[in-house]
Amino acid sequence: MAIHSITVTVNGSKEYVDVPSNMTLLRMLREKLALTGTKNGCAAGECGACTVLVDGEPVNSCMMLAVEVDGRQVTTVEGLASEGQLSRLQEAFVEHNAVQCGFCTPGVLISAHALLERNPHPTEEETRVALVGNLCRCTGYLRIVQAVQTAADRAALEKEGA
Ligand code: FES
Ligand code: FES
Repeated sequence: MAIHSITVTVNGSKEYVDVPSNMTLLRMLREKLALTGTKNGCAAGECGACTVLVDGEPVNSCMMLAVEVDGRQVTTVEGLASEGQLSRLQEAFVEHNAVQCGFCTPGVLISAHALLERNPHPTEEETRVALVGNLCRCTGYLRIVQAVQTAADRAALEKEGA
């Protein structure tokens, strides 16, 4: 198996990683960079537990090869908090109890973060559509959607007050 040396920026840090041709981005994050927040649910592009951002776009990292991110920017759930401070979105998830087992949560947060970046004021329906690729087996979607809406409302209020 050929080994490739790639350079990738992960959560703002430049990383130099040697990866086999068949290693997925998901495995590279977990096994090479110890970023285990990103979960392996199905390894088949079905559940969204492995969602990360590549150049700002959500992707299923189980369906992407590590070599494909050479020279690109990757954001994982570990990159959402800043200096130990949860993001507004993460805080809203805590407040709404939008987490039970938490297995889906990293992927849900990444998809919701991407939604709010491109559409700071999503409707409930737009939020549900943005999260359609993220399966949650235990919390149910109501609290998750409410948390996203709360984060959006707070961002708008902060902007008004600024
Ligand atoms: S683990 Fe990638 S979509 Fe399920
Ligand atoms: S919180 Fe358990 S799968 Fe979503």
